[in-house]
Amino acid sequence: GPLRVLVFGAALRADSTNVRLAALVAQLVSDTGATVDLAAMRDFDMPLYDGDMEVTKGLPQGALALRDRLEQSDAFVISSPEYNASVPGVLKNAIDWVSRVRPQPFKTKHALLVSASPSLIGGNRGLWTLRIPLEHLGTRVYPDMFSLADSYQAFAEDGTLADPGLQQRLTDTVSAFLSLVEADVRYVCLERR
Ligand code: FNR
Repeated sequence: GPLRVLVFGAALRADSTNVRLAALVAQLVSDTGATVDLAAMRDFDMPLYDGDMEVTKGLPQGALALRDRLEQSDAFVISSPEYNASVPGVLKNAIDWVSRVRPQPFKTKHALLVSASPSLIGGNRGLWTLRIPLEHLGTRVYPDMFSLADSYQAFAEDGTLADPGLQQRLTDTVSAFLSLVEADVRYVCLERR
């Protein structure tokens, strides 16, 4: 069947530019014929990680729901802001909770990282730090990343990027990422025969 790709906007606020970038990436993924599951941090309510809570109550519903959505996908895309040159606490907290599940759902999955920020660097420093927990968990993080600078001004009315060069670069990044995932998923299927 077609590739299944979870596209995750990793910010809580309603008008988040990362949620908007996730929606745009979801459209580009869907244009390639893949099946998209668009998600946002707001869909997964979870408390701060607490080892006592884990022992007494198990994982919170929000973490289990995110685990399910990851498990049902061949690959995922995260669109995350950068907070203080690093991963926002809410995203790290979600990764920490989900990493406690067995089988651990980040393992061997392909991921593309994108970011949006009103700054000139577009949140790219945050993505480098996001690679650390994901690669630790065995995710195959795609070498190329896409960071959208000046994000409050970058979107056109229709949700695409106002700069056609940037829109093309994002389209190319998504399509190159999906070609790699497709080749790998097909290879794994052949190997299993
Ligand atoms: C920020 N912001 C920010 N931006 C950036 O480019 N580099 C940074 O290091 C930081 N640091 C930072 C820390 C904290 C605590 C906050 C709240 C914000 C600004 C951030 O990019 C901005 O709030 C974006 O709009 C967040 O993305 P969304 O909400 O539009 O998706």
